[in-house]
Amino acid sequence: MSFYHKNGYLYCEDLKVKDIQDEVQYSPFYLYSLAQVKANYTAYQDALKDTNAIIGYAVKANNNLTLLKKLSGMGSGAVLVSGNELKLSLAAGFNLKRTILNGNGKTLDELALAVEHGVLINIDSEFDLKHIQQTTNQLNTPANVLIRINPDVNPEVHPYVSTGMKNSKFGIRNEKLNWFLNEIKNDNLLNLVGVHCHLGSTIKKVRIFRDATEIMVDFMKIIEKDGFSPHYLNIGGGLGIDYDRSGEDIPSPTDLIDSIRDILPEHITLIIEPGRSIIGNAAVFVNRVTGVKTNGNKHFIVTDGSMAELIRPSLYDTYQHIEFIEPVEGKIDTFDVVGPVCESADFLGKERRLPTPSEGTGLVVCDAGAYCHAMSSNYNLKMSPPEYLVDGDKLTCIRRVETLDDYLRLFDV
Ligand SMILES: Cc1ncc(COP(=O)(O)O)c(C=O)c1O
Repeated sequence: MSFYHKNGYLYCEDLKVKDIQDEVQYSPFYLYSLAQVKANYTAYQDALKDTNAIIGYAVKANNNLTLLKKLSGMGSGAVLVSGNELKLSLAAGFNLKRTILNGNGKTLDELALAVEHGVLINIDSEFDLKHIQQTTNQLNTPANVLIRINPDVNPEVHPYVSTGMKNSKFGIRNEKLNWFLNEIKNDNLLNLVGVHCHLGSTIKKVRIFRDATEIMVDFMKIIEKDGFSPHYLNIGGGLGIDYDRSGEDIPSPTDLIDSIRDILPEHITLIIEPGRSIIGNAAVFVNRVTGVKTNGNKHFIVTDGSMAELIRPSLYDTYQHIEFIEPVEGKIDTFDVVGPVCESADFLGKERRLPTPSEGTGLVVCDAGAYCHAMSSNYNLKMSPPEYLVDGDKLTCIRRVETLDDYLRLFDV
């Protein structure tokens, strides 16, 4: 692991996080380990070394341009959910032929960008197909498309991150598959190259991926029987990470790929779309303690970071491990760790057994690389926090803090 403790201090690779906090002028901030990003990506490469495959990093998990450039440099493809993510991926140097555009509400402008750049496009619904057809006709340019199918396998995750069930807002109605096949057959600008599914996120059992893959392989057979030659099987992303640190056995990319290897048809290229498992454990969110208080029988540690910079605990009631970056000697108590935002939903962690810190003590929320900075907001006029990257003993700012002047410029209309 690239984050570890030595003599009571947290380290990121060769650097003491406390020293970084003292050097960085702003708090809170995000801190990434390049070695961890590389190790996570390499774990997928190793798992897939004997398989025709595209690793499509899900840009939605974390869209920092420097991190995207590192991933494209390692050979990753990209998985996109908006036109802006497509433009950013171009800037990051991704090969857009190894890139997929997902989404249940793609706009005509977004589709035009995707068609122009030869991005693989997932068909999500009847209207989405119509919009894709409208775009290819207007540009007189063909498009390679996949059909997003809901295998209806329960991913056993929070309902907000479950995306592949029958009643999901994503994907086609499976009973209408033949209608989609006929439409595509009659359209000489559409090339049906594969099928796609995405079951959900934070999945901890490989059996779930295997069950879904079996179903998707059956769908491929149906499509082949109808005269098509689908060669991409896209099983989405979704592998969980060890947020809980409870010693639970979280499957690795190799466990995932090994669990489906024997059922993969020979001629296909597998596409996987990992986000969280590439970037999630590669960062911590670094805060300072503003103060400690007690109300009724509840104790609170109040930090300068909040739900505005890291909303996952408030949004999904999820657990992210919290620890101090330096030795703390105070009395051990049970605390809610909360931010300064004017909402009772503003918490980073609940009921944590921690020693009582003094003001200014450094505290981190762990596993903060995925869906944390990417989901930050200006609520309570909090500014988007800066991001720093550690590579060995080198610290680089990879995104400056947003300032109030940046914000005020939006009103120069
Ligand atoms: C279509 C699609 N692919 C891939 C992902 C990435 O999932 P994860 O970050 O859990 O790997 C998501 C995220 O929910 C998604 O919606």
